[in-house]
Parts: sequence; C-alpha cells; structure tokens
Amino acid sequence: MTQPEFTAAWQAVATAQSRLADCRMTDLFAADPQRVTRYTLDVAELHVDLSKHLLDDAALEALLRLAQAADLPRWREALFAGAPINASEGRPALHTALRDVDPTPLTVDGQDIKPAVAAMQRQVADLAEAIRSGQRRASGGQPFERVVNLGIGGSFWGPALALEALQPHVTPDLRIDFISNVDPQPLRALLADCDPQRTLFLVSSKSFGTAETQRNLAAARAFMESHLGAAADQHFIAITASPDKARALGFRDDAIVTFPQWVGGRYSLWSAIGLPAAIGLGADRFAELLAGAAAMDAHFRSAPPQANLPLLLGLLDVWYASFWGFGSRVLLPYDQSLRLLPTYVQQLAMESDGKGVDRDGRPLPHPSCPVVWGGNGNDGEHTFYQLLHQGPATIPAEFVICAHDDADLPGHRRRLIAQCLAQAEALLGGAPAPDNPHARCPGNRPSSLFVLPRLTPAVLGALLACHEHRTFTSGVLWRINPFDQFGVELGKRLAGRLEQELDGAERTRHDPSTAALLEFCRARLQH
Ligand code: F6P
Repeated sequence: MTQPEFTAAWQAVATAQSRLADCRMTDLFAADPQRVTRYTLDVAELHVDLSKHLLDDAALEALLRLAQAADLPRWREALFAGAPINASEGRPALHTALRDVDPTPLTVDGQDIKPAVAAMQRQVADLAEAIRSGQRRASGGQPFERVVNLGIGGSFWGPALALEALQPHVTPDLRIDFISNVDPQPLRALLADCDPQRTLFLVSSKSFGTAETQRNLAAARAFMESHLGAAADQHFIAITASPDKARALGFRDDAIVTFPQWVGGRYSLWSAIGLPAAIGLGADRFAELLAGAAAMDAHFRSAPPQANLPLLLGLLDVWYASFWGFGSRVLLPYDQSLRLLPTYVQQLAMESDGKGVDRDGRPLPHPSCPVVWGGNGNDGEHTFYQLLHQGPATIPAEFVICAHDDADLPGHRRRLIAQCLAQAEALLGGAPAPDNPHARCPGNRPSSLFVLPRLTPAVLGALLACHEHRTFTSGVLWRINPFDQFGVELGKRLAGRLEQELDGAERTRHDPSTAALLEFCRARLQH
C-alpha cells in the first residue's frame, strides 16, 4: 500500500457516504429485490442479516477497496503467521494459535510454538478434569465444591461469559464464582459464605501484578491460612504469563499454569485463562469452544472479502464511525445467557481500537473506535430504546437472538424473537406521525441481526472469534495497533501514589480538584 493509494481509497469511501447521506434504506430494499439474500451470511452456524444498513453495492465496493489499500490481507496473514504485529510491545498476537489444531509448525522467535500450546491445552484439560472429578483434592482430602476465580478484565470477562452463556452445559457439582474488582463487598460476602476446607482459588493474571487481583489474593490467602494454616497453599492455583512473579509470591511450580506472553489479556479466554470455563464445562466442551473459534478463524482467513463476516462487520464499524460520524454502537442480545456479551465486546473493541494515534504514532485524522455499549435487548426496550428510536443521534444496533424451542415454557422464546424482530423493523421503517412530532419515529436507523441456533460451545466460540476479527479488521483500516493498551496504565500509576497518600504519605503535587478530594477522603478514612 502507498499513502496516495490509501488516501484515494479513503476519499472514495467519503464520496460514497456523501452520495448516500440522504438515502432511505427502504429505497435500497425497493431497488434490489435480492438485497436480503445478498446481504445475509451463514457462517459457522451464525445466520447474520446485514441488509438493514446505510450501504449499497458501490459503497461496499469502495470499502472493500479501502481494505485492500490498507493492506488488510497482508496484515491478516501476519496475524495468523505470528509476525510481531504488536509493534509497540514487540510481539505477535497469536490467540488464533491457541485454537489451531493443525500441527504444522508455527515459528515465533525461531521456535515452533505448537508443542508448547499443545502442552498448555493438555495441562488445562487435565487440571479441569481432575478438579471436576474430585481427583485433585483439598488439603483435608475432600473434593473441592467451590472454585473462585480472582482476576479482572481479560482474566475475568471471557470465562465468566462462557460459563453464563453455556450454563446448561456446566456441571452442577461445583460452584464457580468470580471476584474481579477490589471493592471489599463481593469478597467479604464470598468469604463469609465459603467453606475453606473445600474452596479452590484460581488466581488469574497475565502480568501477576494487577493491583486488584493482588489485593484480593492477599485477603483470600489470609482468610484461608487463618483456617488451614500452611495447608492453605493447596487451595491456590496461579494462572499467568509471568510465573516468576507467582513463584516470588510463594506459588510452587505444581500450582502454576502458564501461558505465553503473546496472548493479549482480552484475547486470552482460549488460553489457560479459560481454566474456570474448562472446569465448569469439562475438557471436551471447552475443546468445542476452541473448535468453534477455529472455524471462524478459517472463515476469516480464507472467505472472499464480500462474503467474509468479520471483515464486513469491521468495515461497517469503520464506515459508521469514521465516515458517518456515529459515535457509538449498541449490542443487544435477546438472551439472558448472553448478558455479559456487550461488556466482553466492550473490552475487546474499546481496549483494542480505542486509540488516537496510528501504529507509527501519528494522530489519527478521523474519528475511530466508537463507544460500544448495550445489554439485554428485551430489558433495554424498557430502559434505553427510546433514545435508539427518537434520539437525535443514529446508533447502529446489533441484535442477537437464539431461535429454538423451549419445551418447558412454550411461547416465551416466540415472544422474544417477535420483540427482537419488531425492534429491528421499527428502527428501519420508523413511524410517520404528520400531526404529532412527539410520536414520529424517523426510522432509517441501521442494524445487524444475528440468529444463532441453540447456544453451544462451538457457536459461542465462533461468535467471540467473529468479534475479535472484526476488531482486528477495523484496527487495520484505522491503521492502529489493536494489541497494546498503554492508556490504562496511567491511572494505575497514579492510583498507587494516591493510595500511599491516603495512607498518610507525604503529599505530592496534584491538580487542585484531586488535592481537595484527597484531603476530604483522607479525613474520612482516619475517623
Ligand atoms: O485493564 C488493563 C488490563 O491490562 C487488561 O488488558 C487485562 O485484561 C487486565 O488489565 C488484567 O490484567 P492481568 O491479567 O495482567 O491481571
């Protein structure tokens, strides 16, 4: 790609947007009876309708040329091949290798990584089965009855989402809880309610230095030692890419599960970080989750661009954020078990693509990553949909529904599906109300609609990998590095110092507002 080629392709997309600025999607449907068929994709059991978008063939063509001009095929190959595309941190982003069953060697830093990946997968599977079956026992000889994951961000959302989404597949014999943030309340409640004799803590942290997880670990350890003494050690397992730090905190080698540094935190469900999910689901089901993701990897890598689901979704994200100026997009699962999907995608998309400079450090000349938000679609109807229908801003929506029967509560899902379809239809068509501006819904608001069969591990794996590759695609078009996250470090550094000052350390310079709030809180803490 040359800069002039990229600029020309970008300009061509801008021209397409100007041409469509006043278009009505209903006219696009009228002009093309095949639109639904041509804009609907079936990939890895996901049925996805992309027809309700402010896009025609010529605009799509311009976006596909932009992807070409941004060298997307070359970047995609570099991703899968393990090239150090996370340039600011000098490493690859090889989450795809974690679900790749092809034994062909994949060389990173002169070494085939496949044997180490296979060994990690075996260790996760063996450990999960040993904990599930009661073969791995608590210090007193009893099987564990409760597993508590201490971890935050990518060391929390993925396993928590997988266990919620796949609840019917999760063993009822073990209770699995997550403690993520450092608010004392959730940990206090958990410790008050757990039997130390039969509780296992997984300490999930890629860096093994995250303050929240370390603080929760220290409290959990103190609690367990107060009940079990030195035997408490047998109730903790560290899952980390920094085993030296775990050893320094007293973890023995047989209580440490490692994974490679090239696994990004928000891409780490597929690594040993998935252990809580593997324990709940069992090794075979966890392998199915990886296989579903691998099916999406194969599709993303080889499907033609115009039929490539994650690629098209990434193009739409760029189209709306950078060319239409839509500042947010909303994710609306009509399924309680996908309640955590919007938050999971929020971290994935916003921590990856929430950057203001390109990969060479130059300021981006256009808006990039939109705010990603959302929640259970049915509850959202009675909470924030008013804004979607009549607010001044257009917010592209993405509906997700599972289409299957529920014999025990017949009618519920039919109603759920009807409500989901109705909302997408209403956003598209709107409602004229010539005599009442308050009742008028402008319509012409774009949406995608995913229909999933029953939620299985494979379907969930494909869905999450689709979001990963879509995020990668938009990152490449914005020419940013989606795999670092320096922005989150500053607050962590400041919090460390502020904590000491709350504790009485000499005050350093702060802005007047922070200084006043620090004083106010310090006085309260001393009472
Ligand atoms: O919030 C920033 C972040 O670094 C995320 O990228 C990561 O998933 C999370 O913190 C947790 O980090 P760790 O697994 O190292 O504890």
